[in-house]
Amino acid sequence: MSSELIDLRRRETAALLSTDAARAALALHGTPLLLLSPERVRRQYRRLRAALPFVLFHYAVKALADDAVIAALAGDGCCFDVATGEELAIVRRHGIDSDRVIHTHPIKKPTEIEEALAQGVRTFVIDNETELAKFEGAPADVRLLVRLAYRSPHAKSDLSTKFGVGPVEAGRLVGIARARGIHVAGFSFHVGSQLDDPDRFADAVTETLALMHALECEHGVRFTVLDIGGGFPAAYDAPVASIEVLGARLRPVLEPHAHRLEIIAEPGRILVAECMTLVTSVVGIAERGDGRWYYLDDGVYGSYSNVVAEDVHPLVFAVRELLGADTDAHRWSTVAGPTCDSTDVVAREAMLPDLAVGDLVASPVMGAYTAVTASRFNGRTLTPIAVVGFGMPHPAVAVDPVRERVDALA
Ligand SMILES: Cc1ncc(COP(=O)(O)O)c(C=O)c1O
Repeated sequence: MSSELIDLRRRETAALLSTDAARAALALHGTPLLLLSPERVRRQYRRLRAALPFVLFHYAVKALADDAVIAALAGDGCCFDVATGEELAIVRRHGIDSDRVIHTHPIKKPTEIEEALAQGVRTFVIDNETELAKFEGAPADVRLLVRLAYRSPHAKSDLSTKFGVGPVEAGRLVGIARARGIHVAGFSFHVGSQLDDPDRFADAVTETLALMHALECEHGVRFTVLDIGGGFPAAYDAPVASIEVLGARLRPVLEPHAHRLEIIAEPGRILVAECMTLVTSVVGIAERGDGRWYYLDDGVYGSYSNVVAEDVHPLVFAVRELLGADTDAHRWSTVAGPTCDSTDVVAREAMLPDLAVGDLVASPVMGAYTAVTASRFNGRTLTPIAVVGFGMPHPAVAVDPVRERVDALA
C-alpha cells in the first residue's frame, strides 16, 4: 500500500461524496450505490490520446458496459471494442458507426458474426482454423487480425492461457487464409490485464513487429493493422506505471511504424476503473475469534466481484471519517459482503474506526470489471449506478427498469 496514493483516494472520495449530486443520489436510492463520473472517463481518454497520439483507441466495452461511459467516450471521438453481439447492440444504440467498432473475441457464434457483418462491422479477431473458416465468403472488405499469445505471469489476468497463438501457428493461419482468399490485415495481442510492466508491453510490440516483417517477406504481403490490445494498469491500493510512463515506453517502439500501420489499442480498465465509487452501508457487526467483522450491503457476488475474479484489494473508507467527523480509535477489521457464503469477504485487514449499523462505507476505483461481473446470488438485485457530474446542482432522475440503473445527473 502507498500512503500517498491512499491519501489521494481519500481526498477524491471525500470531494465526490460532498457534492450535491452524490448526496442527492444517496438520499434517493440509499445503498448500495455506485457513483459514476463520466468526466473521469473523458480525462483518462484524453491522457491516453496525449501519450500515444497516433494510436486509435477502442474502448473495451466489457470493462463497464454503461451508457454514460459510451456516451462520454463517443463524444470525444473514441472508437469501441466489443466481444459480443450484446455489447455491439449497446454501442450501436448510441448511433456509433460500425466503422468505429471492432469485434475482438477470438471465438464467436456463427450467428453473431453474421449479425455483426450485417451491422457493418468489418474488423474481427481469430486465433484458430475453425474460426478462420467462419469467414470464408465474407464481404471483401472484412479484415481479420490473428491474435498472438504472450505469456504474462505478472498480469492479474494472463489471457494468453486461453487465447492466442505462437509465431509458427500464426504463420500457418496466414498461409491458410491466403489460400482461401480471406484477408488477414494484421495481428493483435493482449499482454494481460493489469500488467504493471511497461518493458513487457514494449517487448510484445517489438516481437509482433518482427513477426509481421518476417511473414510479409515469406508471403509477399503487406500487413496494415497492429492491435496492441488492452492491459494498461489502474492504481487501486498501490501506484502503477502511469499512462504517461507507459506511453513514453511504447512511443519510440510504435511511432516509426505509424505512417504505414493502423495502430489500434483496446483499453478497458484504465479508462473506467477510477470513474466509479461504491457506497455501501454496514448491515451487521460481529466479534469473532480474529476480531471485528463488518457486513456490508454489497459484496464479492455483487460489485466487489473484482476481489475474487481479479484479486483486487479495494480501499474501504468510513464515510463519516472522510467527511471530517471525529472518529474513535481504529482497529483492523474484516469487511464482508451480505450473502450467506463464506467466500464473500471484501477485505481482511481494513483499518477502520468503530462503525455502527447504518454507517456508510465507500470504495473508490470500482469502475472496471465490477458492475459487469456482478451476479444476483442470494436473490440480490444488481447495485444501481448513479451518474454524477461535479458541481452540478440538482439531480434529474431517470430510472431504467431493466438495469435498475439511475441517472442522478446527466
Ligand atoms: C480482447 C480484449 N481486449 C481488451 C480488453 C481490455 O483489457 P484491459 O481492461 O486490461 O485494458 C480485454 C480484457 O479482457 C480483452 O479480452
